[in-house]
Amino acid sequence: MRETRLESSDFIYPLFVMHGKGIKQEISSMPGVFQWSPDLLADEAKSIAELGIPAVILFGIPESKDPVGLENFSENGIIQQSIRVIKQSVPDMVVITDVCLCEYTDHGHCGILNLGENKNPNLPEGYVLNDETLEILAKVAVSHAQAGADMVAPSGMMDGMVAAIRNGLDAHHFEHIPILSYSVKYASSFYSPFREAAQGTPKFGDRQSHQMDPANIREALREAALDVQEGADALMVKPALPYLDVIHLLRQTYPELTLAAYNVSGEYAMIKAAAANGWLDERRTILEILLSMKRAGADLIITYHAKEAAQWLKENQ
Ligand code: PBG
Repeated sequence: MRETRLESSDFIYPLFVMHGKGIKQEISSMPGVFQWSPDLLADEAKSIAELGIPAVILFGIPESKDPVGLENFSENGIIQQSIRVIKQSVPDMVVITDVCLCEYTDHGHCGILNLGENKNPNLPEGYVLNDETLEILAKVAVSHAQAGADMVAPSGMMDGMVAAIRNGLDAHHFEHIPILSYSVKYASSFYSPFREAAQGTPKFGDRQSHQMDPANIREALREAALDVQEGADALMVKPALPYLDVIHLLRQTYPELTLAAYNVSGEYAMIKAAAANGWLDERRTILEILLSMKRAGADLIITYHAKEAAQWLKENQ
């Protein structure tokens, strides 16, 4: 009589990568999650694959940051190196890359800002320049595809980002590379452990100009519709647990599209903290939460729990 099933093939496992050698550094607010240097990724990719997890999504910490985020589209950037290591070690692993500026810019924002000598006097100082940012995003996506990425996931919520990336990829003969768009991304307090992990906290201001108000759901439909029109192959809702209603609504609206839920860093940290205190049964709670995302309508779940959950699902069989 069971209507919904959770399987390790539903999971996408996030990996944080940084320059260096022999680095496996735990993130303090995310016990069990690490920053990796590329040399250790070959073994890690194998252990992920052995658990039946088909895909990873990469987040990079660059060597240095600047106003544009040059390493983001450099052939030897941390993401480009990591893609090559993983694809060499486990060729079947689906490697997805996060395409955004925030980890690479010195100001920590998701786009080029209206600052400096060439600033537009009609716009507020520090305003995110949407169209200038699109050009960079297309370059980043092409660079990731050239390094061997199987799918790109633009996460900055810029207007027109899916179309700009699609055009960029197609112009470089990557018409087969799908786009998983972070279509519905809320301005959420659940991202703070991630910002420690990826060192992507904005140096000033916040992301409320381009991320969604947690109070809105009709706007989620408008955002999703734009991405679908622009050619997104899959849509994402982020965070997941506080927005199961949004996942459900998108499932009903787009029965034919692949839908992903991002079970974000704060959702992970919350459960780990409660479990460490003995306040929750960790294993049962995590499997219940992940199952709820499937029940709401997600096909795929990006989750830091992927490895442990895959292990438990194996043991439950
Ligand atoms: C932006 C990005 C963020 C997350 C994924 N991609 C941070 C943000 O929007 O501030 C957060 C994911 C998480 O909290 O696990 N590149």
